[in-house]
Amino acid sequence: MTRIAFSRIRSGWPLALAAALLVPAFAVPPVAGAQELAAGDAVAGAKVFRKCQACHLVDVEKNKVGPHLVDIVGRPVAALEDYQYSTAMTEYAQTQPEWTEEALAAYLRKPRDVVPKTKMAFAGLKKDEDLANIIAYLKDPSAAE
Ligand code: HEC
Repeated sequence: MTRIAFSRIRSGWPLALAAALLVPAFAVPPVAGAQELAAGDAVAGAKVFRKCQACHLVDVEKNKVGPHLVDIVGRPVAALEDYQYSTAMTEYAQTQPEWTEEALAAYLRKPRDVVPKTKMAFAGLKKDEDLANIIAYLKDPSAAE
C-alpha cells in the first residue's frame, strides 16, 4: 500500500513542479539589514543609542549625567578631566587602561559585573546584536547620518 502511494507521488511529481517549489527559495533576496546587523551596523546602533542618550552625548564633547562618548572606542578609561568618575571607574582604569571593543562590549552587557559600584545606572544590553551595533555606532557616529 505505502509503496504504491510513494511511487505514485514520485512519478506524479513533474520536474517543473519541483523546480517551481525550489526556485523561489533561492530567488528571494536576503532580508534587508540581516547582513548588516551581523557585522555591526552603525545605523542600527544609532537606535540602540537612544537608551544611552539621556545620560551621554556622542557628537559633542559635553558631559551630561555621564561623560561624553566622543571617540570612546580606543579612548583611555575614565580619562575626562572635567568629569567626576566614581572611585570604582577610576580603579577599573588601573587594570583596563583603554576602552577596547572587547572591554566596551563586556561593560555595556552588564556594567555592574565589570565595574561593580559604577555610578552608571544602566542594566545593560542583552543582545549580541545590539552590542555589535552600538560599538559600530560609537566608532563612527557620522556613519549613521
Ligand atoms: C542613567 C544614565 C546612563 C545611561 C542610560 C548610560 N550611561 Fe554610560 N555612564 C553613565 C555614568 C554616570 C557614567 C560614569 C560611570 C562611573 O564613573 O562609574 C557612565 C560611563 C560610561 C562609559 C565610560 C566612559 C569613560 O570615560 O570611561 C561608557 C563607555 C558608557 N558609559 C557608555 C554608555 C552607553 C553606550 C550607554 C547606552 C547603551 C550608556 N552608557 C548608558 C550614565 C549612563
